[in-house]
Amino acid sequence: MAKLFAQFRFLAGALALMLLVAMPAPAGAQRNPDGSVNPTAQSVKEDQLLKELKIISGRGTIPDTKSYNLEQPAGRDWRQFHEVTLRWIGAIAILGMLLILVVFYLVRGQVKLESGLAGRRIVRFTAFERFVHWMTATCFIILALSGLNITFGKSLLLPLLGEHAFATWAQWAKYAHNYLSFPFAIGVFCIFLIWIAGNIPNKVDVEWLKRGGGIVGHDHPPAYRFNAGQKLIYWVVVIGGTAVAVTGYLLMFPFYATDIAGMQLAQTVHAIVAVLFVAAMLGHIYIGTIGMEGAFEAMGEGTVDVNWAREHHRLWLEEELARTGPNQSQAQPVGTPAE
Ligand code: HEM
Repeated sequence: MAKLFAQFRFLAGALALMLLVAMPAPAGAQRNPDGSVNPTAQSVKEDQLLKELKIISGRGTIPDTKSYNLEQPAGRDWRQFHEVTLRWIGAIAILGMLLILVVFYLVRGQVKLESGLAGRRIVRFTAFERFVHWMTATCFIILALSGLNITFGKSLLLPLLGEHAFATWAQWAKYAHNYLSFPFAIGVFCIFLIWIAGNIPNKVDVEWLKRGGGIVGHDHPPAYRFNAGQKLIYWVVVIGGTAVAVTGYLLMFPFYATDIAGMQLAQTVHAIVAVLFVAAMLGHIYIGTIGMEGAFEAMGEGTVDVNWAREHHRLWLEEELARTGPNQSQAQPVGTPAE
């Protein structure tokens, strides 16, 4: 009996082996093209998974489910942007603008007051307007320096300052960037409200641009309170300021309103708008200081010489004279605000 059972076991084993050998190999076979066995051919490959899912996540027990992500290749693209592409965009925009301004100054020189001083002054900006301007401008400069520290600090300042000093500076810069964002955002909003009336583009702007704005050549095309160049700066501040504020708050309060892809997009937009914004503001700072004689006084003390107003904002001066009467307006210094 035992012998018969052993013979039956042998027969069943042999049959099972034959079946296994005779079974057709599954699609995609475990064999390489040269016929050798590929032991992993049937397993799902990591890159196949990534292609399908974009993110590979595991399981976890802590409440923050974002931490379950094991691989997120978009992070590598983002790092490449942050470490390489952004630095190129920033360096080209900012250094390029500085170069243009230096060359422009050397070729064109300062825009002079060609008719000389009249000795009578007219109010151009009220105390409130100047306060809003300088508050926003001060915040902007600190935000720009502290933001650029995040982009360039590690490669430019860290080797110069050493780890300890750089860490202290970067920490304070980051505090400044966070807290000054609030007066900056309020300032941009106030600028939008107080100067919108004078910054709607019109036909006069086309003519002003065609004639080089009196900056490229020595012409004096007429302009109302703000010329086309100033209107451009106004809209850069309003649109650029809103863009950096919205994206900046998305970054400051991470994952409240968006997922990881949204965070990366917010950072990319914030950084690109910021560096272009800095470049544009360099142009504005140039023309408001060394680029044009008499321009700084308008925002510094709030008044301008009547001849300056005639050369650069003739239509605005005419409006002001019509509104207040020539004798009153040209009395020195006029006490009424420009608008
Ligand atoms: C309401 C206004 C703003 C807010 C809320 C804000 C917020 C932020 C936040 C949270 C970050 C990320 C910081 C980090 O990674 O630790 C950042 C980065 C940055 N910000 Fe701002 N920001 C504002 C305005 C500005 C302005 C006006 C500029 C430039 C003029 C600017 C330039 C930058 C730059 C260059 C970076 C670094 C980008 C990078 O390399 O990743 N920001 N900002």
